[in-house]
Amino acid sequence: MRGGQFLHWIRFHLGLDPAATQTTAAEREAIAAHARGRRCVVEIGVFEGVTSLVLRGAMDPAGTLHCVDPFFVGVFGFSYGFSISQREIAKSRNGSVRFLHQFSHEAADGWKMPVDMIFFDGDHTDAGVRRDWADWSPHIVPGGIAAFHDSVAPGETSGPPALVREIIATDDRFELACQVDSLSILRRT
Ligand SMILES: C[S@@+](CC[C@H](N)C(=O)[O-])C[C@H]1O[C@@H](n2cnc3c(N)ncnc32)[C@H](O)[C@@H]1O
Repeated sequence: MRGGQFLHWIRFHLGLDPAATQTTAAEREAIAAHARGRRCVVEIGVFEGVTSLVLRGAMDPAGTLHCVDPFFVGVFGFSYGFSISQREIAKSRNGSVRFLHQFSHEAADGWKMPVDMIFFDGDHTDAGVRRDWADWSPHIVPGGIAAFHDSVAPGETSGPPALVREIIATDDRFELACQVDSLSILRRT
């Protein structure tokens, strides 16, 4: 696996491999549509920066994209993901970008800024995604957007699908704007 990551990193920097993502083209279109004109945009889970680039390209030119990921390092203290995502996200010069090399709960600790859009694509465990929701949802402005990846799976009883179903059914701060493939987009009322 490590050899595979190294090869992918080389191939990416030579322009032979694209940055990797599990999102579909339709999901990325929906993310871009909802990011348009937003100023304070947060992404939880950057990986190689594909959806970060989508968010950056669509947000307001005066906006800031906050990229939150621990960017796990390998044996030499080097993160392939950070190296790739830095270059991927720099393909757009729109607005500004802030990298937070942190777990989402660390970034949330002491967070003060109102958030116009947040994309949850980090820890997909039930406890992890619920903690993210508890930490970050109070910061979302009225009319603001919360998007969850991997959250459409009717039989799934935990993780993002269960949480999103629960929010739609019980949290009257938020309404469902749309679902595209495995992506759910909620709007704060
Ligand atoms: C599915 S990938 C994100 C993919 C990216 N959004 C895309 O589609 O281009 C998940 C990422 O979440 C990060 N991650 C895992 N747990 C996290 C946490 N608690 N806080 C922030 N990021 C986390 C991982 O390091 C990984 O890079």
